[in-house]
Amino acid sequence: MPDNFKLDLKERPRRLRRNASLRAMVEETVLRPADFIAPLFVVDGKSRPEEIKSMPGVFRLNIADLVKECRALHKLGVPAVALFPKLDPKLKDDEGTQALNEETLVLRAVRAVKKAVPEIVVITDVALDPYTTHGHDGVLNAARDDVENDRTVAILAKMAVLQARAGVDLVAPSDMMDGRVGAIRRALDAADFTGTGIMAYSAKYNSAYYGPFRDAVGSAKAAGTNLLSKATYQMNPANRREARREVQLDVAEGADIVMVKPAGPYLDIICEVRRTTSRPVAAYQVSGEYAQIHAAARLGWLDLERCRHESLLAIKRAGADMILTYFAKDMAAVLKG
Ligand code: PBG
Repeated sequence: MPDNFKLDLKERPRRLRRNASLRAMVEETVLRPADFIAPLFVVDGKSRPEEIKSMPGVFRLNIADLVKECRALHKLGVPAVALFPKLDPKLKDDEGTQALNEETLVLRAVRAVKKAVPEIVVITDVALDPYTTHGHDGVLNAARDDVENDRTVAILAKMAVLQARAGVDLVAPSDMMDGRVGAIRRALDAADFTGTGIMAYSAKYNSAYYGPFRDAVGSAKAAGTNLLSKATYQMNPANRREARREVQLDVAEGADIVMVKPAGPYLDIICEVRRTTSRPVAAYQVSGEYAQIHAAARLGWLDLERCRHESLLAIKRAGADMILTYFAKDMAAVLKG
């Protein structure tokens, strides 16, 4: 090559990357605090916040601290929280009966948050895993070798009505039973909660990235087995077309928002779902995605702030309208400046 080598190029994309102002002008995706939903873990009692080992910076909060956290999030511009209870193991049983107790932890938490910070959107999980000794999202069949679909759905529909009565804005069925969105919609309407929305975990995969979450809510181990497989209800990570089918069914049954979960390793699914429906699309950056970034940062192998930002930018770029993420508060604080 001669020293004065020149390409005869008409297009030089680098022209629009020459300085920060030009780069800002052509930026396609921008994160804002309102993009995020903060998942929060609540416990009973008056204990101080307990950090979850595999999720640095994430704490189980008593109701009073939870209320404070919601106020802080609201101030930072985070519009919504998703609440997850960690039950005293003594309260768990085979059928998850505490899920239908009007005074159960998460319902008391919802009422407290809604009273103190009425503007914040409160979302609750509709699934039995925090309540069952076996840790499954539903009740077991007679042979105890699988979750029984229809009997579970009947319980979930009642659970959703209790959550609506406690004041949630959105119920979020995360159980992956067939027909649960329709059953929940009918139950809510019949109880006059026509205004309570459904955020459906529509394409929820049977993922290994949920590990730290199961520690957080104490549902890690099935009774008698050490491997809790949810493969008969959560989706096979190998499947994409099936995500379209699940989304179409949930929308037809009345889902207001559909969700893809996990998020980062499933960007193609977010993109596909975005094209499949005009409903808002949520994506859940799950506990394992969060833990991964923190672990690598601790080892000095990745830059925490930059990877955090990039991971969320990618999820939004793929087509998510809102992101459930354990980074919600930190991100909102940074973005607010
Ligand atoms: C359970 C539920 C799970 C998560 C949210 N709701 C775990 C599971 O399905 O086993 C995972 C969230 C996370 O990993 O951050 N219904």
